[in-house]
Amino acid sequence: MDYDMYEDEERVIGRTAQPQDADEKSLRPYTFEDYAGQEKVKNNLKIFIEAAKSRGEALDHVLLYGPPGLGKTTLAGIIASEMGVAMHITTGPSIEKAGDLAALLTNLNENEVLFIDEIHRLNRSVEEVLYPAMEDYCLDLMIGKGPSARSVRLDLPHFTLVGATTRAGMLSAPLRDRFGMIHRLEIYEPNELAVILKRDAALLDIAIDEDGLANIASRSRGTPRIAIRLLKRMRDYALYLKKDVIDKEVSDFGLKALDIDEAGLDAVDRRVLMSIADIFKGGPVGLETLAAVTGEDPVTIEDVYEPFLLQKGYLAKTPRGRVLTLRAYEHLNIAPPPELLNPNINKKGAAPENLSFDQLSYDPADD
Ligand SMILES: Nc1ncnc2c1ncn2[C@@H]1O[C@H](COP(=O)(O)OP(=O)(O)OP(=O)(O)O)[C@@H](O)[C@H]1O
Ligand SMILES: [Mg+2]
Repeated sequence: MDYDMYEDEERVIGRTAQPQDADEKSLRPYTFEDYAGQEKVKNNLKIFIEAAKSRGEALDHVLLYGPPGLGKTTLAGIIASEMGVAMHITTGPSIEKAGDLAALLTNLNENEVLFIDEIHRLNRSVEEVLYPAMEDYCLDLMIGKGPSARSVRLDLPHFTLVGATTRAGMLSAPLRDRFGMIHRLEIYEPNELAVILKRDAALLDIAIDEDGLANIASRSRGTPRIAIRLLKRMRDYALYLKKDVIDKEVSDFGLKALDIDEAGLDAVDRRVLMSIADIFKGGPVGLETLAAVTGEDPVTIEDVYEPFLLQKGYLAKTPRGRVLTLRAYEHLNIAPPPELLNPNINKKGAAPENLSFDQLSYDPADD
């Protein structure tokens, strides 16, 4: 897979797939039953899959989006296996010409699933072939050149397109509109990750107790891929500490050694928060500026770091840029600007949506 957009190879808790995740495939669940969390998405899909199956029709096209490692590819596979059909896998950037897509489409059988990963990276000419294919199950091909050229219409089998993307915003509107279902995958709760970890530990034959599970689950940025990776690392720390089970002691030791704090933030997260506090007096700061100052790629910040920091209420997004919340100051253990201590502001530091932007921002001119 092509992950050249992401450069967080070194991060244990980077969300994107890395060489160390190679055996991830063997852990992929194939049924809804083994796929923990994402209840809303699952419940909807189950209903639509049952309905499509009882009519003997192809499932409507599905778009899955959300940060890396939350289970989009896994869910695509489950959709195909629950439908009882084969899945053909490709990625947006690997379909270079309209002809490549035509070849893929004409190879499908009735009701099968075509999975296009990174679908936001499809090029325009390919996308245009996809529109009639999705809508009317047909292909418009040009035959011949010059004045004798004519267009022929080719019927395709009824198929289901499952598209996955980390960046729904980069999808063109006409493409987005042609999906019957659009599902956003959410960051997982620690108890859901603990369920995933328990299953994976059993599959990998790793001994771990409840404390160990809870410890890893709460410090994996709500992301199964990271949880699995940490589980494997903790197995090594257990060996190093000469313990047979990953327990509280092993996991505390290991997480500390990997520089992951109690909130599950790593050094890069803290650097992002620190630079907003330090250099921008709490913000607002734009994405590009933040990227330049922290030495990270803007795409990486937006896709990999931010979703978790936003979800956990360390960062808030305003029309003028990112701002730190009181919770972030508390976590970094530094004094917040006086505005944030305003009693109108939620003590927990989460940025409540109903607060006006002015209440959250900090203007250095007020000093
Ligand atoms: N809900 C889940 N239940 C159990 N395991 C899961 C779940 N979601 C993800 N996983 C595990 O996490 C791994 C990563 O998931 P997956 O590859 O599907 O993520 P992705 O969203 O496609 O990521 P990317 O954007 O990088 O392609 C899978 O191999 C699977 O083992
Ligand atoms: Mg994937």
